[in-house]
Amino acid sequence: AGEQKIKDPDFSFEGPFGSYDQLQLQRGLKVYTEVCSACHGLKYVPLRTLGDEGGPQFSAAQVRAYAENYEVFDPELDDFRAAKPTDSFPESNLANAPDLSLMAKARAGFHGPYGLGINQIVKGMGGPEYIYSLLTGYTGEQKEEAGAVLYENTAYPGGWIAMGPPLVGEDVEFDDGHANDLSAESKDVAAFLMWTAEPKLAARKQAGFVGVGMLVLLSVLLYFTNKRIWAPVK
Ligand code: HEM
Repeated sequence: AGEQKIKDPDFSFEGPFGSYDQLQLQRGLKVYTEVCSACHGLKYVPLRTLGDEGGPQFSAAQVRAYAENYEVFDPELDDFRAAKPTDSFPESNLANAPDLSLMAKARAGFHGPYGLGINQIVKGMGGPEYIYSLLTGYTGEQKEEAGAVLYENTAYPGGWIAMGPPLVGEDVEFDDGHANDLSAESKDVAAFLMWTAEPKLAARKQAGFVGVGMLVLLSVLLYFTNKRIWAPVK
């Protein structure tokens, strides 16, 4: 275990004007569905949000069709049934695989210097960069400890993770013909997990701009008010 190595790929949602790339979210969802969901869950993400503006933007029919991939337990029926858009993604199947709904916000690329989080603001080194680095950070080394297999990973704190390399490249075929090497797949699923953790990113940025705009206007008005109040004194 040495220092964590976090790479810094460019994402479309970085910076004050950044927003999600709809096609990238759809590709990331595909990686999640075909690979990650075997072990992980997204229990805080309602399936209907796949149709929301700023997200993968599925049509109502696509959302319904996608929901039917999953089975959920219905306490009223006291039985399992196909999921509906109003249900959330299922929880993790594997007890020690953490839920990924908020993972992109729970992890950071680099908290420094001195834990100030400056790098996250200045260089955009947040959770998606960490997830990308984790998925591409396997060295191929593994060891057994107390009966559990651990895999060496250059991004994971401590250097040894209990998750085997989930992606090796060409694990999924993308409908838009996009590249599906390890780096491309990792980037797409990292972007998708950023969306699950912060689905309202665009609305937040927009509200920020309106707020700053009003403050600028207020400053101008106050400047002239101030001039007028002090005019007789000059
Ligand atoms: C942990 C992502 C597929 C089993 C994690 C973590 C992330 C992650 C971000 C948390 C690491 C941390 O705590 O910092 C993904 C993604 C996948 C995927 C994006 C699909 C591309 C899988 C699969 C399995 C699995 C298929 C099971 C075969 C686990 C386990 C942990 C874990 C057991 C806990 C590891 C530990 O705490 O040492 N995964 N995962 N994951 N994942 Fe996955």
